[in-house]
Amino acid sequence: MSLLIMFSALLFSSLISTTHCVGGKRNLSKEVVDDIEIKRQLRVLNKKPVKTIITEVGDVIDCIYIYKQPAFDNPLLKDHKIQMSPRSISGETRSKNVSASSIFYGLQREQCPSGTVPIRRVTREDLVNAKFFAMKVEQIHANGFPNIGARFVYAAEVIRGKKYFGGAASMSIHNLTVDPDQFSTSQIWIVNSTTGDQMNGIQFGIMKNPSVVGGNLPRLFGFWIRDGHHVAGCYNMECHGFIQTNPSVFIGQPFVQSSVYGQRSYDVHIMVYRAHDTGHWWLRMGATAETSENVGYWPNEIFTLLRASASVVRYGGYVGSLIQASTPPMGNGFLPQLQDYDTTAYMRLMKYVNEAGASVDLNSHSVRTNNGTVPQCYNIMFAGQIGGDWGNTIVYGGPGGYCN
Ligand SMILES: *[C@@H]1O[C@H](CO)[C@@H](O)[C@H](O)[C@H]1NC(C)=O
Ligand SMILES: *[C@@H]1O[C@H](CO)[C@@H](O)[C@H](O)[C@H]1NC(C)=O
Ligand SMILES: *[C@@H]1O[C@H](CO)[C@@H](O)[C@H](O)[C@H]1NC(C)=O
Ligand SMILES: *[C@@H]1O[C@H](CO)[C@@H](O)[C@H](O)[C@H]1NC(C)=O
Ligand SMILES: *[C@@H]1O[C@H](CO)[C@@H](O)[C@H](O)[C@H]1NC(C)=O
Repeated sequence: MSLLIMFSALLFSSLISTTHCVGGKRNLSKEVVDDIEIKRQLRVLNKKPVKTIITEVGDVIDCIYIYKQPAFDNPLLKDHKIQMSPRSISGETRSKNVSASSIFYGLQREQCPSGTVPIRRVTREDLVNAKFFAMKVEQIHANGFPNIGARFVYAAEVIRGKKYFGGAASMSIHNLTVDPDQFSTSQIWIVNSTTGDQMNGIQFGIMKNPSVVGGNLPRLFGFWIRDGHHVAGCYNMECHGFIQTNPSVFIGQPFVQSSVYGQRSYDVHIMVYRAHDTGHWWLRMGATAETSENVGYWPNEIFTLLRASASVVRYGGYVGSLIQASTPPMGNGFLPQLQDYDTTAYMRLMKYVNEAGASVDLNSHSVRTNNGTVPQCYNIMFAGQIGGDWGNTIVYGGPGGYCN
């Protein structure tokens, strides 16, 4: 079973000829980049906006005609008929009552005009940094999983052995300090993999990555890949795959509320599931499962194996950094424990979507825990069904550091 290769699969090639490191951090202004190629890619990715909104946190959001978003440049989507919402909802019931503005996500002050969707503008720095990650992050083997992409350390829960049609959890939100050359996620993997070359996957959750997805805040992210690393996949809207449908809650949006250690936890319910009729993989998010909204989807056509179903659902943390460098914190930056949920990173209400299209609890006995490769840096524990609003729960995380 191979893991997803996050960065080696990015689309961007031949952008940087040299890079310089200053005090362990890159100095972008010194990098020699192929400006013409970058400008070309930016022109292709950033469509002409109907309106541009600068959000409270400084994101530049372009309101793009829904039929003109980047995904439609993908030749695989030439004949794609856009879906505004899945005809068959798997698992969760929908509440008619909740609008995007009543939760703390997405556009707040200003909205996009009707017929358009919000898309965070991709900057030159995003592209340069994505390329930098793709080049500099080295492959190693870790934790019994062969061909793990790059210098990633992780702790995860795995369920496997059946056909899976989605996964969901309420994940605690933490504003970790992560260097420009690092990333740290709380995420769910949905994978169908026969061999490494044939792997298809979607990863989604919360990511802190100042360089590629931008900014100082943790963000909602989604990543797709198919055919191992032969065919590119990538983050959010950074290549032609994800179709944004929600007029307010957008992929890449920041979380402005984070948990405060020992005082208060904030969490968010995030789900990806396959709609039975179309086979598209929808991303949903909200304060709870019931109030979640569809954000958009990865169309069936961009996948090979994942067109039908997934073979593995995995929950946990995932971090990356450069070789020989310090690794970032995971979760809330502390090793997990089961005594006090305000001082640990967690995922509760862990569910998967079964063949009947229902969102169900994991069978505790089918859950396998993979402790971090380096337990002094990261760990994970499965708490099982802890009752109340919590359901199946994992706690995970760690301080990172020099973890060799
Ligand atoms: C980055 O490079 C520029 C130009 O060489 C220089 O002026 C600036 O001080 C450098 N920044 C850092 C953080 O080293
Ligand atoms: C919808 O919202 C109204 C007003 O907030 C509330 O009274 C009502 O109970 C809600 N209905 C449902 C089904 O949640
Ligand atoms: C999140 O952490 C960054 C430093 O990593 C800091 O600059 C920022 O102010 C923090 N934001 C919030 C909302 O706590
Ligand atoms: C993986 O994908 C293949 C091709 O779509 C499908 O036949 C198979 O059932 C999938 N595996 C699982 C376990 O869902
Ligand atoms: C994983 O970590 C747990 C909790 O720290 C420990 O009890 C268990 O023995 C570890 N398992 C392995 C295989 O290292």
